[in-house]
Amino acid sequence: MFTFDHYRESADLLKARIGDFAPEVLLILGTGVGYLAEQVESPVFVPYGEVPHMPVSTAHSHVGRFVFGRLGGKDVMVMQGRVHVYEGYTAEQVAYPVRLAKLLGCHSMIVTNAAGAVNYNYRVGDIMLISDQIRLFDPDPLIGPNIPEFGGRWCDMSDVYTAEYRAIARQAACDMGLMLREGVYFYFTGPQFETPAEIRAARILGGDAIGMSTIFETIAATHCGMKILGFSLLTNMAAGMVKTAYVPGEVQQTAEMVKDRFCQLVTDCLSRLPAAAE
Ligand code: HPA
Repeated sequence: MFTFDHYRESADLLKARIGDFAPEVLLILGTGVGYLAEQVESPVFVPYGEVPHMPVSTAHSHVGRFVFGRLGGKDVMVMQGRVHVYEGYTAEQVAYPVRLAKLLGCHSMIVTNAAGAVNYNYRVGDIMLISDQIRLFDPDPLIGPNIPEFGGRWCDMSDVYTAEYRAIARQAACDMGLMLREGVYFYFTGPQFETPAEIRAARILGGDAIGMSTIFETIAATHCGMKILGFSLLTNMAAGMVKTAYVPGEVQQTAEMVKDRFCQLVTDCLSRLPAAAE
């Protein structure tokens, strides 16, 4: 379990690397969309392994470093790769970098992931704006002694994916001529893909897309008062909807196909976000 001192120690290391650069927005890049980090101007790279207490990604498709610089006219802190609970990390470790971003001054977060489509109206390659999330039985990053420097014990989760930011994303997509889905992200731990029965259950319970990440970061970000925008890149139809839900390499292949649109949407949204959260 971490105390505030752990977070401060990590943030001090990052501050020493970036000098007086103060990021406004944390951008978390999920499976297959890490290339967006390559578009950051005047980048400063800090591998996760150099930051005390920071968990290091074990997934091959995740590079595992922070990139500080400018993107879409904003000062950003980009996570090129993230860690997951299925890698053996606790929910608190998965959420760790979000609290570092807060200490460095980020008022907002854009979170992205690859996900399976659960909603029958969706198609492989669609992009879904996340309107809300469902986490039923899994661990939680806020379990344990509350750290009041980040927020109160009881955290309101009624507007996690900030309505104001979702309106900005819809407009950005509309201006690009991009059809944007909007729906609920349903979390399963993984690492195995779901069974058809689990997917049916997720659909009945209100899920539109299914994935193994994101919710811990958004819980921690909500707790410390950050505004959030989230996107799922729908890389496959979920189990039971097609003959084989999981074809090795499909997640990366679909991400590759959609990457230019996805990149433009995220950059456009960044440029439209307010300079500071009110
Ligand atoms: N299930 C869970 N996670 C995923 C999927 C899926 O079908 N596709 C991409 N990430």
